Amino acid sequence: MSSSSSTLTVDDKSVDLAIKTGVIGPSVVDISKLYGQTGMFTYDPGFTSTASCESKITYIDGDEGVLLYRGYPIEQLAEHGDFLETCYLLLYGELPTAAQKADFDYRVTRHTMVHDQMNRFFTGFRRDAHPMAIMVACVGALSAFYHDSTDISDPHQRMVASMRMIAKMPTLAAMAYKYHVGQPFVYPQNELDYTSNFLRMCFAVPAEEYKVNPVLSRALDRIFILHADHEQNASTSTVRLAGSSGANPFACIAAGIACLWGPAHGGANEAALKMLEEIGTPDRIPEYIAKAKDKNDPFRLMGFGHRVYKNYDPRARIMQKTTHEVLNELGIKDDPLLDVAVELEQIALKDEYFIEKKLYPNIDFYSGITLKAMGFPTSMFTVLFALARTVGWIAQWSEMIEDPSQRIGRPRQLYVGSPKRDYVTVAQRG
Ligand code: ACO
Repeated sequence: MSSSSSTLTVDDKSVDLAIKTGVIGPSVVDISKLYGQTGMFTYDPGFTSTASCESKITYIDGDEGVLLYRGYPIEQLAEHGDFLETCYLLLYGELPTAAQKADFDYRVTRHTMVHDQMNRFFTGFRRDAHPMAIMVACVGALSAFYHDSTDISDPHQRMVASMRMIAKMPTLAAMAYKYHVGQPFVYPQNELDYTSNFLRMCFAVPAEEYKVNPVLSRALDRIFILHADHEQNASTSTVRLAGSSGANPFACIAAGIACLWGPAHGGANEAALKMLEEIGTPDRIPEYIAKAKDKNDPFRLMGFGHRVYKNYDPRARIMQKTTHEVLNELGIKDDPLLDVAVELEQIALKDEYFIEKKLYPNIDFYSGITLKAMGFPTSMFTVLFALARTVGWIAQWSEMIEDPSQRIGRPRQLYVGSPKRDYVTVAQRG
């Protein structure tokens, strides 16, 4: 990392601010001394121009539509790798050797069971509880079960906590689903790979044998790879902020899950599917395109546009291919939702409004169709996202804890409330 400097002039006072240059991507102006030198803060609601940390994990070039995990293009990882390999890469910075991979897979697999008393948590929820509500509660509750991995100053305990969460998320997610649909919990089975095991825990029932479909398992594994990390998005920043106070890792990941739940973040795939269902048939697309372009109509094309990607979301391309694979495998020849999606995409990509605003399909545009075809209800979509993103959150949290310059995260504000005033008793208030 090289550095140079810039000068900021405020009134008639000039201050030198270092410019830091990363490996690729925009440089940053280091304003950490700005307040001390000028008595001023910077103002950046939504953090659109603020880099909150240095990171070696994930790189996005939104203009070019590039996503790299530890330098590797997402397309190559999704095509050739598997999810646990991606987890290893995100956590340790390098792809594993065959021996490292076997050891990592073994360790994750042996941590998949949850404490039996966790079952009682589930029975405390209403059956119609949203599975994300259950996930926030149960992942937070892990800190009440695993006291031997909450000391964040101990690297071994941090590693054990990381393994536990990556391993137990599928089990908890499947339990949330089973509870929701009123079926008995299915315990993990160690001879299955990570994603096949998850599918079995979701869809097996005691009444008959369940055979994992390898095409669906591979497709879901790829979906997990696509969602594994996305640098400093809202939920990841939430995890880092929670962790900066020294909170235990289970509590931090629970905070990330809570943030992901919001419709502007992890909930968009559900919205995209609902929109495709509402459009229903390709002949109604022009009506919805017109609504999306109408300034007086709040409607937006769900699954289109992205804060960072001003080009085709590279994950959306892979997702689209995966959707076709899954529908073919399931023998769904004519899915009206897919017909609508394909045509809508083609029309929008040729439309001046979408071209000018650089609005392209994002990962959520096709993921809902795929997950629905696999048998997941819409309420589980964000849970699957949380399952996959857990490794990204943990990698980012670990990087922060290991950073010697790490301090508690504490943004400042521009105060616009009442100036100082004196208390008046109730009797005196008019
Ligand atoms: N349909 C129609 N118009 C759109 C859309 C859309 N999907 N997205 C943005 N625009 C327009 C806006 O109206 C705005 O127009 P204007 O400049 O004339 O006012 C312009 O494009 C810029 O939009 P902003 O909202 O300022 O862009 P921002 O970066 O804040 O928002 C967001 C990005 C939230 C993703 C937005 O594109 C959107 O709402 N998309 C639909 C929801 C969605 O798919 N979210 C998933 C994101 S991916 C993920 O979380 C994994």
